[in-house]
Amino acid sequence: MSTEQSIEKLRELRERSLAPDDQRAIERQHDAGKLTARERIELLLDKGSFQEMDPFVQHRATGFGIEDKRPFGDAAVTGWGTVDGRNVFIFAEDFTRFGGSLGEAVADKICKVIDLAMDTGTPIIGLKDSGGARIQEGVVALNGYGRIFERNVQASGVIPQISVIMGPCAGGAVYSPALTDFVYQVEGSSHLFITGPDVIKTVTGEEVTMDDLGGAHAHSSKSGVTHFVAEDDREALDEVRYLLSFLPQNNMEVPPFFTTMDASDRMDEALTTIIPDSPNQPYDVIDVIESIVDDGEFYEVHEHWAGNIVVGFSRLDGYAIGIVANQPAVLAGTLDIAASTKAARFVRFCDAFNIPLITLVDVPGFLPGVDQEHDGIIRHGAKLLYAFSEATVPRITVIMRKAYGGAFLVMNSRAIRADVVFAWPTAEIAVMGAQGAVNVIHRRALATADDPETARAELVAEYEEKFNNPYIAAENGLVDDVIEPRETRPRLIRALDMLRDKRETLPAKKHGNIPL
Ligand code: HXC
Repeated sequence: MSTEQSIEKLRELRERSLAPDDQRAIERQHDAGKLTARERIELLLDKGSFQEMDPFVQHRATGFGIEDKRPFGDAAVTGWGTVDGRNVFIFAEDFTRFGGSLGEAVADKICKVIDLAMDTGTPIIGLKDSGGARIQEGVVALNGYGRIFERNVQASGVIPQISVIMGPCAGGAVYSPALTDFVYQVEGSSHLFITGPDVIKTVTGEEVTMDDLGGAHAHSSKSGVTHFVAEDDREALDEVRYLLSFLPQNNMEVPPFFTTMDASDRMDEALTTIIPDSPNQPYDVIDVIESIVDDGEFYEVHEHWAGNIVVGFSRLDGYAIGIVANQPAVLAGTLDIAASTKAARFVRFCDAFNIPLITLVDVPGFLPGVDQEHDGIIRHGAKLLYAFSEATVPRITVIMRKAYGGAFLVMNSRAIRADVVFAWPTAEIAVMGAQGAVNVIHRRALATADDPETARAELVAEYEEKFNNPYIAAENGLVDDVIEPRETRPRLIRALDMLRDKRETLPAKKHGNIPL
């Protein structure tokens, strides 16, 4: 064959590999409100940047008539490209071929891009839309999932891993997204579950729809599996691009810097009045965050789950930060099981990827309740304590109002090696709230008092006067400075600047044993 002929053959094969081989399946995909794998990749990556890998891979399976259908590329499109000029690796399951199911050849393709992402320190993004293990390939298909899971684990903490669920993702297949750092779900078209509605009905008798069981709403607000919800494919892919703007390429790098027009010495008088005079009155901590950060820009993670704690990405003076903030507007900002788990995982992500942490504290304590105790608030609360204690990135805390008891310690206190702790003059740092404290330490006096209510009110006032302020903590060096709320942005920026080259190492060990 002449060179010209061989080039001609390549062109023909390439054309075949790109040609839609099942127009009906593509139409069904579009009718379901979903884009195809290639359309999704086009939207996610910078225009024209996609470099496909393995377009000629074909499955080698036989039996059940599958040997007669061997489309080029099989049921996934893989490769790399750029997002805002930075490389990412990508795999997109192609539902229009074998329902996006995963056989050995697809697993090989996915493993190859994860391996390359690891070797080059590049984020990996998986667009999931699949009927699961390819039934015709049996155990070999299952093994393919196993190989992917193992790689997800090895890559954890080395490169950012992002999963976007854009169709079905069922059975054990869910464990690949579950192992990744961030999960997006598209409303309406995506479903994640271990066992579907039919199996559940057979086993437990419960009746539930696919959507109620494993739709975006269920996982973003109930199970916490899903971090971000998007209205459609396009929005999900836009959001992934945005998320990447806060992340470094790998654990050896820092996130990209963005020049901001927001002055580093900007003060905000609105913060002066943000804390209500009554200690039991809530306010929205997102207003505080938006007032402090560059241009009020905050990308909230897990917005719909465990609203009593707020976590997300933002920037101060152009540098990416992770924010963890108690939310007084939900459950009075108490820490419960879900909030502890949510924040712990976020703290560990930021620590793994060199993103400094800013903690905004207004926490009355852990949420009381038999359910909380029996479901393991001790174990789960310990996760957050563990995550902060172990984090070596710059860590700055601002105590805005309540900081009581164990929750005060957990929320990145000086005791667990916060680098800088500021308190607002409205801070109340104590072992417990005044009412509870008076009931314990003056129980006998109150029992014998002529007018217990007046006596209690006086004792509470005395306790508040003595303990509900930041100055005892400041006197003991547990708070580094008491600052005016309006100064928070400039003070945080100065402190972050000082901590930019912070280097801290942990004791040598194989790994710790975080309470899971
Ligand atoms: C082979 C599959 C497939 C699979 C779908 N298809 N799933 N082929 N293996 N797992 C094929 C269908 O035969 C069909 O082919 C095409 O994909 C589209 O599927 P439809 O059923 O027509 O689409 P839809 O009505 O949208 O339903 C989608 C679906 C359904 C809900 C995903 O296909 C389904 O229930 N599939 C089986 C899901 C499943 O049980 N998978 C195994 C899970 S266990 P044609 O040729 O007709 O177009 C698992 C374990 C992983 O994955 C364990 C890892 C440890």
